Amino acid sequence: MTNWTLTAKKRLGTILSAETWLPTEMPEYAQGFMYMLGSLTASSFVVLILSGIVLAMNGPETWATNGLMRFTAATHFWAVQAFFFFMMLHLWRVFFTGAWRGGRGKTWLLGAIAFLVAIPTAFTGFLINGDLYSQWNAVQGKDGINAMGLGWVNLTNASQMFGMHVVVMPLVLGAVIALHITLVRLKSVVPPYPTAASQSTKGVSDQ
Ligand code: HEM
Repeated sequence: MTNWTLTAKKRLGTILSAETWLPTEMPEYAQGFMYMLGSLTASSFVVLILSGIVLAMNGPETWATNGLMRFTAATHFWAVQAFFFFMMLHLWRVFFTGAWRGGRGKTWLLGAIAFLVAIPTAFTGFLINGDLYSQWNAVQGKDGINAMGLGWVNLTNASQMFGMHVVVMPLVLGAVIALHITLVRLKSVVPPYPTAASQSTKGVSDQ
């Protein structure tokens, strides 16, 4: 019979171990800039969360008037640009290195989900900005959402969008990113595709 406690104990032991989170050696192929793009995405996300907390704590009426809050809002805005920029480059890297190989399917799936969740997270941010552009987006988007039969999602309700953008979406996105990075640590980074040269060398040594 399956012993759930024992299974959980073993799994947690691996997941929480220092060996998993503090590796002291890294494969040679993973030392280039291309392999830093995921970490740069994650770092931008940390800046996003920190600047977002400061913005939420001070409230919308300070965002355009107080100098320090305008700086924080600009930091939040540029962190979003960096987040999407690095995420797209990371997506290209993982695509062209076939990073779903070797049992990394779930890592890939969680990355894709993070990407899909990041889009409405950013969109709800635009909606609580409150300027004419964001009001236009809210009204147009509301038509689209209504057409999908999701009437309870009210893009023109600033309080609902505030809750979505400040609490619900970041928690979901943060959890997906945390799971994605945990799987990366457990499965490690994918080795490059074998080249023709490496295959022919392998052929020689196999003989
Ligand atoms: C929220 C955005 C994301 C963050 C913060 C993130 C973070 C990371 C990090 C730190 C790594 C370790 C290796 C590296 O940095 O290159 C990684 C690897 C990986 N990522 Fe992402 N990622 C994100 C989005 C995505 C997306 C959109 C996909 C694909 C649909 C994806 C698929 C993968 C796969 C398959 C790996 C493991 C294999 C490998 O690194 O070669 N990730 N990710």
